[in-house]
Amino acid sequence: MRPDHTSKTALLTLLLAVAASADPRLTVDVAQPGAAINPAMYGIFFEDINFGADGGLYAELVKNRSFEFDQPLQGWRIVRKPGAEGRVLVLRDENRPRNPRFVRIRIDKPGEGFVLSNDGFRGMGIRDGAGYRFCIEARRVQGDISTLRIELTGQNDQLLAAARIEGFSPDWRSHSCEMKSGGTDAKARLNVWFEGTGQLDIDMVSLFPKDTWKGRENGLRADLVRLLADLKPGFLRFPGGCIVEGFDLSQRYQWKNTIGAINERVSNINRWNFEFKHRLTPDYFQTYGLGYYEFFLLAEDIQAEPMPIINCGMACQFNTGELVPMDQLAPYIQDALDLIEFANGSAADSRWGQIRARMGHPEPFHMKMIGIGNEQWGPQYIERYKEFAKSIKAKYPDMQLIAATGSDGAIFPNGTAEIEYLWSEWRILKPEFVDEHYYRDPEWFLENAKRFDSYDRKGPRLFIGEYASQSAGAGSPNNHSLWKGALYEAAFMTGMERNADLVRMSCYAPLFGHEEAWQWKPNLLWFDNLDAYGTANYYVQKLFSLNSGSRSLAVKVEGLIVPNDSGKVFYASATLDEKTGEVVIKAVNAAGDKLKVIIDLQRAGRIGRMAKVILLTAALTDENSLLEPKKVYPQERSIPIGGRRFAYEFQPFSLTVLRVPVK
Ligand code: AHR
Repeated sequence: MRPDHTSKTALLTLLLAVAASADPRLTVDVAQPGAAINPAMYGIFFEDINFGADGGLYAELVKNRSFEFDQPLQGWRIVRKPGAEGRVLVLRDENRPRNPRFVRIRIDKPGEGFVLSNDGFRGMGIRDGAGYRFCIEARRVQGDISTLRIELTGQNDQLLAAARIEGFSPDWRSHSCEMKSGGTDAKARLNVWFEGTGQLDIDMVSLFPKDTWKGRENGLRADLVRLLADLKPGFLRFPGGCIVEGFDLSQRYQWKNTIGAINERVSNINRWNFEFKHRLTPDYFQTYGLGYYEFFLLAEDIQAEPMPIINCGMACQFNTGELVPMDQLAPYIQDALDLIEFANGSAADSRWGQIRARMGHPEPFHMKMIGIGNEQWGPQYIERYKEFAKSIKAKYPDMQLIAATGSDGAIFPNGTAEIEYLWSEWRILKPEFVDEHYYRDPEWFLENAKRFDSYDRKGPRLFIGEYASQSAGAGSPNNHSLWKGALYEAAFMTGMERNADLVRMSCYAPLFGHEEAWQWKPNLLWFDNLDAYGTANYYVQKLFSLNSGSRSLAVKVEGLIVPNDSGKVFYASATLDEKTGEVVIKAVNAAGDKLKVIIDLQRAGRIGRMAKVILLTAALTDENSLLEPKKVYPQERSIPIGGRRFAYEFQPFSLTVLRVPVK
């Protein structure tokens, strides 16, 4: 063996020995807390996509209850039993422009029964022992259809519940009855039997479970709201998303059409009805039973800041991109001003505050921020934004404005990234928040964990208003909510948290997906007509939200030698929870091996004896499902720690939250 080779080998052996003895180190400077973490840092993004509202969060079980879908009888079946003769006519009352259609039932011969039957939203989820409330508006036109027999039947036509309604007058009146189910079925139907002969007009045919969130009539699905509330979200962004913009301006989201009595809310086609040719959903409409008032109420219930996003005179730029001419923008701006008054105005002497009070909420909703446009871009957006900002700030100087940066990855015709052009404007116009969206492959999230470290601190603060890793491609129907994507999002989130002075709010998107009626994947939560579950990504969001702490702490990661690039293995952030007196460390081990790390809580004073560990780990390809809703699920335990410097072994492919009591 030649001498120089011997010395090289010796040196290598020495280096390896040093490396082995010097475990990687995570240093947290506890004595110098940095920026206050926004209590609203981790929020939720609600959009009526994937049956998120009608057929989802909104607990109405009847589809097309007011016959306002493009096809007035979509969702309904007319069943004539032997010997029955009669017709169903669709009529239009021009005196009720907000809800013009109704149906006339004409029965000439009752035979063995004349039935109008509703499909529900891919069936109706009916539970054994649960109560249901049926409601209908009706008027007698002629003859004597004296009784309605209301039935809920299961997939095999078995009777689950029944009730009767009697006595109709020549005036429109609302009638209701309650019933209790004797069985469970995810695909039940509602059958309305008309008894007698003659003509009866009907409208607003509705069926709700009695067990809605907080037991409210016209309420929300309690299990879904519970999953949202469990996230303790800092804010609720609503109503979207592209739905704000509409395919064209006539289909945009107009909040004034979504409030007041539910029979006066103006239905609208849902843009996701026809957006994706591979996932056409012809029965997707918006009844707005879950409208702006209910959004504000929901935000209040789950103690989230309300964050409405309003149309800024631009339709979706992926669709028509229709623009309101600048000299016709005033009504759009007025809508925004009126919305602020609806949320915050005095119940005694403001017009919209009075409307809110009449709906049942005299107290203001304390709305503090508003988004102007969703994924808008181009100079046309800037022009319109300026007008909105001028009017809103003139009347409500404290209202915080959120401005968009277009769609993720959009490029101008001249080759400039939209986001760069828009940022150059936002640095001048200074909205309080600039909203960035990322729908990228999982690796992008790992690689961008340091993205915010170098952002300009002099400009507006950041709102990461939509993001989700895409296992197959942006919005691809082949996407899955695998642990890999969730883990890499967690790594990215440590980057947001380390930059909490800049990144003030964030939310995963979209929120909900109906197992049978989705258009977009992935989503944070999935449900069918009876059950729901959170994805792995949901638990990542939850761990960050529940362990956000109140001040950020500087972290330093040193000495990671395997596999050669510390930036791709271990990601960490730390905060101080001033309420509980704990240092909260969040760490992602993105490698498939255990990783022993020395945790050094510098300048920490006295340390508690036990730390709490919350661990989320799984195989990279694991995902939750209705059958295995807790395959990826956090585990909690307490561990003893020896002092302010201690070793901790991070599990392979894991997100770990460590809560260490400090003085
Ligand atoms: O989250 C789904 C869609 O993605 C949103 O509607 C839109 O804002 C984005 O392009």
